[in-house]
Amino acid sequence: MRVLVVGSGGREHALVWKVAQEAEVYCTPGNAGIASACECFDVPPSDRPGIVSLAKNIGADLVIVGSEDPLIEGLADDLRAAEIAVLGPGKQAAQLEGSKAFSKRMMVEARVPTADYGEFTDPADAREYVSQMFSRGRSVAVKASGAALGKGVAVCLTPEEAEQAIARTMIEKVYGPAGDTVVIEDCLYGREFSLLTLVSGRSFRSLPVAQDYKRAYDGDRGPNTGGMGTYSPVSWLDDALIERAEQEVVKPLLDTLLKKGIDFRGVLFSGLMVVEGKPYCLEYNVRFGDPETQSIVRRIGAGFVRALKAVADGKPVPEIEVLDNAVVTVVMASEGYPGKYKKGRKISIPTDLAEEVVVFHAGTSMLMDNLVTSGGRVLSVSATGSDLDEARDTAYDAVESISFKGRQYRNDIGL
Ligand code: AMP
Ligand code: GLY
Repeated sequence: MRVLVVGSGGREHALVWKVAQEAEVYCTPGNAGIASACECFDVPPSDRPGIVSLAKNIGADLVIVGSEDPLIEGLADDLRAAEIAVLGPGKQAAQLEGSKAFSKRMMVEARVPTADYGEFTDPADAREYVSQMFSRGRSVAVKASGAALGKGVAVCLTPEEAEQAIARTMIEKVYGPAGDTVVIEDCLYGREFSLLTLVSGRSFRSLPVAQDYKRAYDGDRGPNTGGMGTYSPVSWLDDALIERAEQEVVKPLLDTLLKKGIDFRGVLFSGLMVVEGKPYCLEYNVRFGDPETQSIVRRIGAGFVRALKAVADGKPVPEIEVLDNAVVTVVMASEGYPGKYKKGRKISIPTDLAEEVVVFHAGTSMLMDNLVTSGGRVLSVSATGSDLDEARDTAYDAVESISFKGRQYRNDIGL
């Protein structure tokens, strides 16, 4: 079987690494690390006709779309129209991630537990809603409705913070048109986790859970990022809670989508907050998580590609082998991430890393035979072990031995 992975981040490197164990794999456009693992092409994910031609030319039996943007733009529909099997939902269902306003409306229609909210296009109305919420003793999360790389959300503990978030999002437009509409939610307090579920119409099966760290600095301080590290398994989650999330957050959504004639074939990523033992849905994404995937693929044994292909073909999701190990993945980022950062810094990775370590590349490229930084998140260093302590020690030994100027990482992943 031939598989084409579309994208260029740490998640795509992890997918390429895993798929290569079971199939012939190609990637476009990839990055420096992916290019050393498989043949890469230079068609960008935004070039939809180009991706369709490439998939045809290489005879791909399956295309895996890594990030949300091409799905929101309709890449999966174009591939399906050309009779190419693709893991990823069509444009309509991808609105679950492309529009938080749409996503909230779907949650309400499907009766999925979620925070109370309002949806606004006028900053004055948004301010009025915020002042009502605070006068009732609530705090709020202000969210740009459109896709903003996971950065368009501000959790606000005071009315002043909420005012500022509304101004930044709706007036200064720091997230661009993604902030034309805002969703303002009641703040929930609980423990968060993400559930990644392979979905094929009515059939679904969740992958092992990996816990993400969204804040930039140790102790969950600093700005929100795309994700600074993950670990798996997550000890505080039991099977009953996962089953409850599947029954109350995943299944009703799929039923509602099917009623609208939407056959979701891909990965449904449910962002959840557990409040007094009950999972509430904060958001849906329509793709694998980054850096969740870097940990998840290292906990999966046989049957991964077969399962993804079944999903793409609209067949029931087969079982996948889950390994009895633990994994910690630490993201090494550029100085200044998630704000402005410098590129082009030379990276040095020792050749004698422990065999439990895999270094997935994200923002890297080759410049005159040198491996250099070319993005905010640069590397995802993942290590397995028999338990989390062992995996964490091995991961941090590797992280400390990898150098580039201004490297930035959290010290508490998996602690
Ligand atoms: P989202 O992109 O909607 O998942 O939001 C990003 C992050 O903001 C989440 O992972 C939470 O940490 C936080 N967040 C979002 N919505 C809420 C909410 N209603 N209450 C508390 N925290 C939230
Ligand atoms: N790590 C969060 C995400 O992929 O959206």
